[in-house]
Amino acid sequence: MKNRVMSSAYMHWAKTRQGARFNLATSGLVTYPLSGLPVKLEDLAPLARGGGYGYPPLQEALAAHAGVSTASVVAADGTSMANYLAMAAIVEPGDDALVEHPTYELLLAALGNLQAEVRRFPRRAETGFALDPAEIERALTPRTRLIVITNLHNPSSAFVDEATLRAIGKIASGVGARVLVDEVYLDAAFELAPRSAFHLGPEFVITNSLTKVYGLSGLRCGWVLAEPELARRMWRLNDLFGVNQAHPAERISVIALQNFETIRKWSRALLYRNRQLLNQFLATRNDLAVQPLNFGTVVFPRLLTGSVDRFCELFREKYEGSVVPGSFFEMPDHFRMGIGGESDAVAASLKQLGTALDAFGTQSLR
Ligand SMILES: Cc1ncc(COP(=O)(O)O)c(C=O)c1O
Repeated sequence: MKNRVMSSAYMHWAKTRQGARFNLATSGLVTYPLSGLPVKLEDLAPLARGGGYGYPPLQEALAAHAGVSTASVVAADGTSMANYLAMAAIVEPGDDALVEHPTYELLLAALGNLQAEVRRFPRRAETGFALDPAEIERALTPRTRLIVITNLHNPSSAFVDEATLRAIGKIASGVGARVLVDEVYLDAAFELAPRSAFHLGPEFVITNSLTKVYGLSGLRCGWVLAEPELARRMWRLNDLFGVNQAHPAERISVIALQNFETIRKWSRALLYRNRQLLNQFLATRNDLAVQPLNFGTVVFPRLLTGSVDRFCELFREKYEGSVVPGSFFEMPDHFRMGIGGESDAVAASLKQLGTALDAFGTQSLR
């Protein structure tokens, strides 16, 4: 049996090294202003609620939001806990789990903690990190219990369409496996108005939250969508970790969901502006290989010359800037940049990144 993974190098980095004056390292939106929500102090009372599984108004709001029944909704602390609960309810130690490459490191760390046998299938930079069901089929074994993907893809923001998802669902069903789709960035594909893969069949298990696309990370309002029997298993498993979420956060989350259209419009407008800034910037760079960003919050360029780790160090130490080194996504020639900040800050950070890249390019020519 494999040793249990007991930590995440990426999360440690994110908590201790990500912050910077010119921050392009975060993947979510800047915090949505509390003043933008009609919350009064008395809306937060009482500070505690009775027991039971979930806060009924939040369960109902999440079910309505996702277009599912409340029996399929499991509340969790962010997508992080949602992912862990979903995986732990499905995978036994020694089971095979197939995970896209590159991916969000925490998905691998959680499976490592569960002592799953992790096998990989590629999403290739040359095809815009598209998912190829044939690659998944190649990695499949009779012991595969879970296939894990992100949609939109972290780190590239690539979108997976329904035909591809259906093909993956069919592959999974063939061996009695489930497909976990982490949809925390999906709503950032506003223009495509995609629906959740949950609606494609009972083999799909979905995780999501209000943390990234809606700038409400502080509420930690996450959830899993799963068929009711599996959902019950997750609720019972969550008994081991916490009795319930912080109740004031549950109450604010209900208010946020009641005002969802306002938050959505804010997010859409901010990302639209910032993507234009990003794409203008990318068009000026011949030292980066990357397609323009059409939707999503992050982009994953390849640095054409020099070491990304050295560049990230220079950007941090000399230019007070931060991007995520591609080594955290097992692709050390790339780096990830996020554009969810205030537009002025994103514009200033891109300018600073350009200055740092110019200086780095001159250095590596020497
Ligand atoms: C793919 C993916 N899933 C989950 C998370 C964690 O999200 P949350 O803040 O909702 O726990 C992240 C954060 O970066 C992520 O990129």
